[in-house]
Amino acid sequence: MLMPPMFELRDVYFEYDGIPALHGLSVQIAEGESVALLGANGSGKSTLLRILDALYFPSHGQVSFSGRPLTPEALHQEEFALSFRRRVALVFQNPDVQLFNPTVFDEVAFGPLQMQWSKEEVLSRVGATMALMGITHLRDRPPYRLSGGEKKRVALASVIVLDPDVLLLDEPTSTLDPRSQSQVIDLIQEWKGSSKTVITATHQLEIVDDIASRVLVLEEGRVGATGTAAEILANYELLLRANLVHAHRHSHGTITHTHPHLHSHSKHEH
Ligand SMILES: Nc1ncnc2c1ncn2[C@@H]1O[C@H](COP(=O)(O)OP(=O)(O)OP(=O)(O)O)[C@@H](O)[C@H]1O
Ligand SMILES: [Mg+2]
Repeated sequence: MLMPPMFELRDVYFEYDGIPALHGLSVQIAEGESVALLGANGSGKSTLLRILDALYFPSHGQVSFSGRPLTPEALHQEEFALSFRRRVALVFQNPDVQLFNPTVFDEVAFGPLQMQWSKEEVLSRVGATMALMGITHLRDRPPYRLSGGEKKRVALASVIVLDPDVLLLDEPTSTLDPRSQSQVIDLIQEWKGSSKTVITATHQLEIVDDIASRVLVLEEGRVGATGTAAEILANYELLLRANLVHAHRHSHGTITHTHPHLHSHSKHEH
């Protein structure tokens, strides 16, 4: 029997109080696939991730997960909701939405405690994840009193600790310093090579090839283009349309002018 896709969206519409966000979006994502979501500000990336996490439901169209409709009714069934929430996890673009515990330790331990793991297992998994994300020294600090990048690392840790099958990552590297960015990219790359399904919204073209085997470009709430990283990055018209290339300002003597500019991916040898 053919495996149903992990996610299947058919002609999905979603709006926020009359403001359209998704506009006839259709896409299939296979189990184990790694996908990058690109697109201009407001093109619908975060909304799509929230639909995939069953936080929002479309006003029109269908969403299914592993062949089962993802509807409010399905999420009201305790067994389905529990297994869905265990398997699928979203790291929000803005960590303030995600962090609510009194300390960093409590934040990372919250999910594991909900899972009713043994005390030893909670302590060892939480300790290992805090070390991985470089936040051990912050363990007793309140998350709301951290820097933006520190908050982001705590939010990532609180999701990674549960080892979900499906990771929905909304600009996971934004606000991180370069070293932390590269650690997160390494992690996503590891997941890419595993059986996990990873969907990452990003504006960083230079990481797309590392984190995804397929790219979806959103334009005004629907899929404008899909292809491999190489195919998408070679489509200059598309990148311009989706605000993914920008104008660089150059000065020649007294004259300053701008022209569109694509940052090429520079890899270095070790
Ligand atoms: N909470 C909200 N209330 C009203 N409109 C919203 C809300 N969140 C998003 N929108 C609107 O929905 C559309 C899609 O927004 P979305 O956040 O999904 O875009 P995005 O691709 O994630 O953008 P960004 O790159 O800026 O994160 C935009 O027009 C936006 O203004
Ligand atoms: Mg967004």
